[in-house]
Amino acid sequence: MRVDRFLSNLPCFNRKQVRLLLVEKRVRIDGSIVSDPHAEVREFSRVEVDGEVLQPGKPVRHYMLHKPPGCVSATRDPEHPTVLDLIHEPDKEDLHIAGRLDFNTTGLMLITNDGSWSRRLTQPQTKLPKVYYVETEQLIGPEYARKFTEGLYFAFEDLTTLPANLEVLGPRSARLSIVEGRYHQVKRMFGHFDNKVLRLHRERMGPLVLDSSLNPGEYRPLSAQEIEMI
Ligand code: URA
Repeated sequence: MRVDRFLSNLPCFNRKQVRLLLVEKRVRIDGSIVSDPHAEVREFSRVEVDGEVLQPGKPVRHYMLHKPPGCVSATRDPEHPTVLDLIHEPDKEDLHIAGRLDFNTTGLMLITNDGSWSRRLTQPQTKLPKVYYVETEQLIGPEYARKFTEGLYFAFEDLTTLPANLEVLGPRSARLSIVEGRYHQVKRMFGHFDNKVLRLHRERMGPLVLDSSLNPGEYRPLSAQEIEMI
């Protein structure tokens, strides 16, 4: 939210006072003076006026997890282990998943408390490629790549999928790059050819690549450089 809106939403300031506070350089976000009314206040930004804390702020956190099979992409589940069970950090209830994976899908999963960062990563307009390694039951024919580029009609959502790129690696294995994240999208794309996906592994989301040193179930914080890429 813009800082001028954030401040004028508070009961203590009207719009005119907010303008003045900014001009007089009395507002700080995360320790830095701001005078631009468009400056962004995020969920976890620390906001101060004349040194008085209006929103305490919390550090933003971003983790890369190698999701193992057999766990749910949810913060809580009554039956199965969840990806959050694998994260051993304080304030876990603040964390959420940026881009879910199915129960048995493995690979890159990003977990954060930074809502605007995860929105940028997952919103369809950003069109970040998500790259999957796929193994199938049946042979992958030459018609697949053509159809995936053309787009597939998904009746339930009443939409045609955006062009996807298929690189065939072997008779029953391929690398697929999609820019959306529709429900069971990859399985449904291969399902169009009655070809069951037996193994699905996410290698990459946009510029972020699963760290090959992470074993299934392991995670690490993202570097400042990785966070800035999104
Ligand atoms: N597409 C699927 O079908 N499943 C996943 O887990 C991810 C993408």
